[in-house]
Amino acid sequence: MEKDVGRLGERVTYKTLEEPEQKIFDGKPFPLIITPSDDEQFVDSTDVNEWLKEKKEDLKDLLLKYAAILFRGFPVDAPVHFDKFVRSLGFDAFPYIGGAAPRNVVVGDVFTTNEAPPDKLIAFHHEVSQAPKSPETIFFYCDVPAKENGQTGIVLSNVVYREMKKREPDFVAELEEKGVHYIRVLPDGDDNNSAIGRGWQSTYLVTEKHEAEERAREQGTTFSWLPDGSMKTTTMLLPAMRVDKRTNKMMWFNAIDDAYRAYDDARNIPEESVCFGDGKYMEADKMDVMKDVLESNAVDYMWRHGDVIMIDNIQVLHARRPFEHPRKVYAWMCI
Ligand code: FE2
Repeated sequence: MEKDVGRLGERVTYKTLEEPEQKIFDGKPFPLIITPSDDEQFVDSTDVNEWLKEKKEDLKDLLLKYAAILFRGFPVDAPVHFDKFVRSLGFDAFPYIGGAAPRNVVVGDVFTTNEAPPDKLIAFHHEVSQAPKSPETIFFYCDVPAKENGQTGIVLSNVVYREMKKREPDFVAELEEKGVHYIRVLPDGDDNNSAIGRGWQSTYLVTEKHEAEERAREQGTTFSWLPDGSMKTTTMLLPAMRVDKRTNKMMWFNAIDDAYRAYDDARNIPEESVCFGDGKYMEADKMDVMKDVLESNAVDYMWRHGDVIMIDNIQVLHARRPFEHPRKVYAWMCI
C-alpha cells in the first residue's frame, strides 16, 4: 500500500511502498521514492528540468540522507531527456576509465548499462571500485522495462559492513588490514558476450598498446600481454572498505562479490579475480556469507518506463538481475 510521507515544495511527494520496492533501514526508507503530487503533474521534460534546477541542492541533501532516490512518474521519455535531467542537477560526467563493462554512448553522456547478454550475472559492486577513482553519483534510467525480471538490486554499504563485522569479524579484519587486488584479463577489442568484456582499447580509451600501458601505470595497475593480444591486469592495492568522510560511516566499498562470482568468461576465472593484498584468494565460505548479507539486505525494484534512480555510489552497491529482452536501461556517471 502506498503512503505519502512528505513533500518537496508543492510539486513532489515522497512515497513509501511495500517490499520489494523499498525497505526500511535505521528508520529510513531505501530508496526514497519521489513522485509528482496528485494535483501537480509535470507537462513535459523541460518542465521537470526547471524544477530539478530549482531543487538541486535539496535533492543532493536528500541523496546524502537516503543514499538512493527513485524518481517515478515524471515525463522522462527518451535517453535525451535523461541526459538533460542529470545535467539540470549540475553534475559533470565521470570519464569511464578502468571499468569492466562493455558500454556504448547513446546520446550526450548517456551510456548503455552493459552490453552483456541478459543471462550474464552482474553481482554487487560499487561502480568502478576496482580503480583508484570512482564516480560519486550514478544514475540509471529505464526506457523499456524487461519482459521478465531485470531488476537493479541495491544495498546499503554501511549495513553490509555492520553485518559482515558481526558475522565474520576475522575476515573483515583481514580485509581491512591487507586490502585487495582485482585481476582481470582484458580482451583485444570488446567482447559483448561477457559482462566484463571491455577490451583494453576501450578500458583505457586508447588504440595502441604502449598507450594502454601508460594508462595502466597511471592507475598503478601491473600487467602482462598474453599471446592472443589480451592484457592481463592486476590493480594496485585497493581498500575493501572506506570511511565516508561526509558521515563518518564505514562503507563496504568494493567489487569483491562481482569479481568472485561474475568475472567469468573465456579468459577469466572468477575465484581468481580477486585476492587479498598478499595474494591469498578469498575463502568460499566467507564469500557465501557475504552473498547472504548482500542478498538479504538488497532491494530489487522493478523498473517502469520513465524511472530515474539517483544513487550515491559511496553509500550503495548495485547489481543487475538476469532478464528477458527487451530491456533498455541507461546509465550516467558523475564525478
Ligand atoms: Fe555497475
